[in-house]
Amino acid sequence: MASEKPIVVVTCTAPVNIAVVKYWGKRDEELILPINSSLSVTLHQDQLKTTTTAAISRDFTEDRIWLNGREEDVGQPRLQACLREIRRLARKRRSGSHEDPLPLSLSYKVHVASENNFPTAAGLASSAAGYACLAYALARVYGVDSDLSEVARRGSGSACRSLYGGFVEWQMGERPDGKDSIACQVAPESHWPELRVLILVVSAERKPMGSTAGMQTSVETSALLKFRAEALVPVRMAEMTRCIRERDFQAFGQLTMKDSNQFHATCLDTFPPISYLSDTSRHIIQLVHRFNAHHGQTKVAYTFDAGPNAVVFTLDDTVAEFVAAVRHSFPPESNGDKFLKGLPVEPVLLSDELKAALGMDPVPGSIRYIIATQALTSADHPGLAVQSTSAQRD
Ligand code: DP6
Repeated sequence: MASEKPIVVVTCTAPVNIAVVKYWGKRDEELILPINSSLSVTLHQDQLKTTTTAAISRDFTEDRIWLNGREEDVGQPRLQACLREIRRLARKRRSGSHEDPLPLSLSYKVHVASENNFPTAAGLASSAAGYACLAYALARVYGVDSDLSEVARRGSGSACRSLYGGFVEWQMGERPDGKDSIACQVAPESHWPELRVLILVVSAERKPMGSTAGMQTSVETSALLKFRAEALVPVRMAEMTRCIRERDFQAFGQLTMKDSNQFHATCLDTFPPISYLSDTSRHIIQLVHRFNAHHGQTKVAYTFDAGPNAVVFTLDDTVAEFVAAVRHSFPPESNGDKFLKGLPVEPVLLSDELKAALGMDPVPGSIRYIIATQALTSADHPGLAVQSTSAQRD
């Protein structure tokens, strides 16, 4: 491939997002249109991010993609949908403009390499950051500057929320063509600097059913899911938006836990039932409720996606004590010094009263490690960072 002369190369990064009002269920499988709106917190990229480099060249004879160093089938329908959509937007832009900054690039094939700075084996949802990053990198190389919700969404529904930092709503929209099914910020990055996020990575006990197949079965069989989407989520979206705008942690935490529990209840109501939570997940739920009961207020809140790992929201003044409570209840088996990754957390001693209130027999080794992180904080952050852009023309 010595003759390849890339004319545009960009490297972008994109963050992970964690839903506090969950998306579960599509009304259109092809366009990836959801049956309810959802709301998420975008996480800081220092601890969790996808980095994607895209290059276009007239010498490339086919589109190709590598994920974490391994070449993947570029013919996958979702990848193809993203590529088609970005080229459509680029054509649209070109036909609407007199200037033509990249004259031939539309017909050029693209090579994409993408990797995560966190182990895929950790079981953390990587498709949201991955497809958001892909959409953004493709937009940069093909010169598209319109809203990318549709491109990211066609890759993975939740990916459109990773296009923005801060607190992000994915509006379900009403139109059959999905043009109004878009992501938008409900509060900016700088809005809640005290908010902290702990990801409790649980030992994988079995491979869970993927979100796409799981939610399809839920839509087909769960009456509870239908009720949730139609009657409950609209109220929850309004209430969650209020909690965030007012930085009301108590109400935010309670609603986050209730929504996670309701999502897992719809999984149980699916037929055959789906269960993503493990025994350790249930122990974590118990720990959080006992911790809060001891303090007489909601100081920490859990949420679980389609797997057993917990994401815990709390405020900066509670992180150290809660991490100590986790260490006490789930003592690390061997890698004690690598148990905590990410932001530094001061070690503190637990009071005897709190130890007694937790009241659980320690379960060694069932939490592999904790990633301490926070919401994306930088006010000038567009949600995705372009790390480098270079253009070479022959
Ligand atoms: C439980 O976005 O992964 O994490 O659109 O089929 O790719 P597809 O599904 P995906 O589903 C995410 C589901 C969830 C909840 C959420 O993030 O809102």
